[in-house]
Amino acid sequence: MTTEKIDPEIINNSETALVPNKKDNYKLKIFNGCMNLMAHVLIGATVGVSILFSFTYDFDYYGTKVHIILCVLGYQLLMAEAILTLSPHNSWTTSLKYVHKRIAHWVLQIMGSTLAIVGSFIKMMDKTVHFDTLHAQFSLVALLFTTACLVNGLTSLYAYELRKIIPGTLSKVTHICFGTIAFSASAVCLCYGFDKPSFNRWATPPLKAVFMAFVGIFTVIIIVNPIINFVDKSFRSLKR
Ligand code: HEM
Repeated sequence: MTTEKIDPEIINNSETALVPNKKDNYKLKIFNGCMNLMAHVLIGATVGVSILFSFTYDFDYYGTKVHIILCVLGYQLLMAEAILTLSPHNSWTTSLKYVHKRIAHWVLQIMGSTLAIVGSFIKMMDKTVHFDTLHAQFSLVALLFTTACLVNGLTSLYAYELRKIIPGTLSKVTHICFGTIAFSASAVCLCYGFDKPSFNRWATPPLKAVFMAFVGIFTVIIIVNPIINFVDKSFRSLKR
């Protein structure tokens, strides 16, 4: 296979992954590694507590249990990991080549989005009036941007092949933007979920505050890298 047929970004990224830049700031690397570890711990704690709550709380509508489990697994576990796969500081993907990171990213993204969309519709079926609460409104934003992100994820995946129809940078920049908005909206939605009467009856107020803080912290850590990429790609395409 000749390199001309491959997206240049894949070649550049795989090269940087194989030959570490000696000039890289060592302290910054340690800091980024610690942030990545913290994100994983907080994701685990948040997802674990949400699942424990769904299994132990006696809901009137059984679908609420399924709703919470699918949405949290979809957005806060799989989608979070999907975004992290492309981060240069992510622990479990550092030894992967960039091509394989991309595969892990889209597989996790498709699985996460499917669970989140199904989980959202299960709860919608229980309601007659829709999007009347802040929890529901943020869930709608997350749902719309997740769908848009899935669609232009495909054009980003084939950005090099489709470059004559859609400029590659445009696909990638909008994909990063849609994905970051979807993930951030799902985090706000989850915090409003933790504010529901059922969760308030199950957890003490400090525990609720701790888990809202956990969601805020890991969401910020996760979206930093996509935001940097978004700004970088946008500036580079404007300079051209
Ligand atoms: C990322 C996580 C979550 C997402 C994406 C999400 C999404 C949704 C969606 C789409 C609806 C239906 C909106 C409508 O048709 O108007 C809904 C409703 C609901 N969800 Fe969640 N949810 C999440 C987490 C939670 C959690 C943790 C709870 C915990 C109690 C919860 C409890 C509820 C309740 C009680 C409703 C019905 C009342 C309302 O719409 O505000 N959800 N959610």
